[in-house]
Amino acid sequence: MYQVPKLDDYSAGSLEKAFAELRAAFDAEAQAPLDEAGWKAFRDRWLGRKSGILTQVNEQWLKAAPAEAKREVGRRLNEIKDEISSRVNELRSKRQDVVVMPIGSEARASAGSPSVSGTHQLDITLPGIRRPLGAQHPILRTMNEVVAVFRAMGYSIGEGPEIESDYYNFEALNFPPNHPARDSQDTFFVAGEEAKPARERLLLRTHTSPVQIRTMEKQAPPVRIVIPGKCYRHDTPDATHSPLFHQVEGLAVDTGITFSDLKGTLDHAMKALFGSSVKTRFFPSFFPFTEPSADVAITCFKCNGKGCRMCKMSGWIELLGSGMVDPAVFGFVKKNGYDPEKISGFAFGMGVDRIAMMKYEIDDISLLFQGDVRFLEQFA
Ligand code: DAH
Repeated sequence: MYQVPKLDDYSAGSLEKAFAELRAAFDAEAQAPLDEAGWKAFRDRWLGRKSGILTQVNEQWLKAAPAEAKREVGRRLNEIKDEISSRVNELRSKRQDVVVMPIGSEARASAGSPSVSGTHQLDITLPGIRRPLGAQHPILRTMNEVVAVFRAMGYSIGEGPEIESDYYNFEALNFPPNHPARDSQDTFFVAGEEAKPARERLLLRTHTSPVQIRTMEKQAPPVRIVIPGKCYRHDTPDATHSPLFHQVEGLAVDTGITFSDLKGTLDHAMKALFGSSVKTRFFPSFFPFTEPSADVAITCFKCNGKGCRMCKMSGWIELLGSGMVDPAVFGFVKKNGYDPEKISGFAFGMGVDRIAMMKYEIDDISLLFQGDVRFLEQFA
């Protein structure tokens, strides 16, 4: 077994020789086949912090070196340190490769021979390694559930860009420039857009509503579409706010669509999502792109409207915004004949994160975005 020798002579030739011997010793020892425990011992022997060989070299060669040789010894030591630590890690992954290698011709040919890849013996009678199946993230699952309810009513599904222009996110939705309604949408603006005309400036969409306009520009009426997606707002994160969140938007446009259609559709959707005993309540609200506008609440699905912690004792849970599409919005769609004299429509938007949090009784929104497997595997 190699032992770190004392070094008296720090001439270039002697250093060359000492490091070559060190490298040769490592090469020789790295040949031996290793199981997991063997690999660990090997790693500690070479890389162990307290008394590994490289630590000894540091103590005995570098620290003891005369000033004029320090630089050279340090350089060589660093070089070999990098080499040895990456080769030690490689050896470990090689070992694992051998274990998970599919039983193909190469493996079969060498099965039973003393070693595969020179490091490990393959026992093809061992059971394979099962990879655990992934599960849908609770957000995706909730989004899919919402979308499925509308799909069953004949809605199609659309998407739009997350980096959006001021025009689609605001102006075409009837938020005029500088209108105070924009304040409610704490917007992340893309930097360096000042030279462009205001409507072309880019931002992270604050809601999925811009896809209403994009859809109508692509498609003549009738339209029935739901749009799931990510949205962004400049909110300080806390248990119920996250700068990234999710919405599902809905839009229906046709001849003769009335507020009763909106009520009937959303009432049905809420029953399909939360149970048939759920009741809905519509109350006046304001959105620039709908007139009239309504917020929709459902009876608390936990206490059935009696009052509990989830509904803050009110018996009601406010879930979405909605309304009849404002004729001004049709006016912004220059193509496809959206004539407010002939057609009408309704729209709605709901926060997916909030729905998922209530459904699964998650009390902190940030859990949804941390990717912690201990949290996520509960949904498997
Ligand atoms: N976009 C609105 C928001 O994020 C939600 C919304 C309200 C969407 C009413 C709609 C609607 O389509 O009709 O604040």
